[in-house]
Amino acid sequence: MQVVITGGAGFLGQRLARSLLKQGSLPDRSGQLQTISKIVLVDVVAATGFDDARIEQVTGDISDSALLERVITPQSAAIFHLAAIVSGQAEADFDLGMRINLDASRLLLERCRACAHVPRVIFTSSVAVFGGVLPAVVQDHTALNPQSSYGTQKAIAELLLNDFSRKGFVDGRVLRLPTISVRPGKPNQAASSFASGIMREPLNGQPAICPVAPDTRLWLLSPRKVIASLIHGYALAAETLGKSRTINLPGISVTVAEMVAALERVAGKPVAARVEWAHDPVIDRIISSWPGAWDASRATALGFVGDANFDDIIRAYIEDDLPAV
Ligand SMILES: NC(=O)c1ccc[n+]([C@@H]2O[C@H](COP(=O)([O-])OP(=O)(O)OC[C@H]3O[C@@H](n4cnc5c(N)ncnc54)[C@H](O)[C@@H]3O)[C@@H](O)[C@H]2O)c1
Repeated sequence: MQVVITGGAGFLGQRLARSLLKQGSLPDRSGQLQTISKIVLVDVVAATGFDDARIEQVTGDISDSALLERVITPQSAAIFHLAAIVSGQAEADFDLGMRINLDASRLLLERCRACAHVPRVIFTSSVAVFGGVLPAVVQDHTALNPQSSYGTQKAIAELLLNDFSRKGFVDGRVLRLPTISVRPGKPNQAASSFASGIMREPLNGQPAICPVAPDTRLWLLSPRKVIASLIHGYALAAETLGKSRTINLPGISVTVAEMVAALERVAGKPVAARVEWAHDPVIDRIISSWPGAWDASRATALGFVGDANFDDIIRAYIEDDLPAV
């Protein structure tokens, strides 16, 4: 079984690769477990810290069709399409976002179609596909009304994946990810970067700026649960998905003030006091357009599992990622 991960050097791509290496196998179309022989990490930068013969790294741009021809072959049974220009950057650079989030996604699907082996393609979408006047409860089938270029690009790619699946070119699964927190490492150009920064920086002894109001509600999932969800989403039998390949993943709905209160409970008052508040209208406009919760009952019925509470998410970050002192 050969696996391709686009964006394989990114935050989720690297974690997914490590989990797949550890797990060692994935089910094939008939549900039989197959040993993973190769994982191809495709990214514009190289991943570091992999010392495993099953990992092959390909450095290049997924909007280059020659690169896609090289990395996606009739042996690529599982394709996790994670490469993306994140929300803040896609908003700042319209052309780049369109080229990578949309055009390259279509090229990738066309490459799968040309291979004619109907690979399973897992695509990571986002809360950003929703926006505008939202119903009290956002469902999997709530009308898409993105209020950012990133959300628009994700929404179009979702529809393409559904149609390529309906036509039998790929066996696609679109997982709409909540905002992932707590993300380790440095801040990135996602509008939601602060949702990790206001936990991570204080836990690492640094101040952090929160650019949105304390009552801003976020829909969150931990790194542990999102990786488990990607693998679970891959393993689902196609028949269980019915007429829609798109699934809102479970999350927890918390306000930013509740996040900081959780930080105080887990790590103490001096740590939580490192969060400073400074409104940023650009970030606030994007974040406030996203739903702060959605109905994940379909995902739950399909066996996806979210986090129990935000305190546990902070504890998981401390266990998994906080550098030892
Ligand atoms: N982390 C989150 O909170 C979150 C939430 C919702 C959706 N998502 C989606 O999940 C996926 C992974 O997110 P992440 O947090 O790991 O992001 P990330 O930015 O860490 O990883 C994305 C990777 O894509 C690579 N990439 C960018 N352009 C490329 C190109 N032209 N060719 C090849 N590789 C390219 C980047 O170098 C990067 O390593 C993305 O599709 C993202 O939109 C993430």
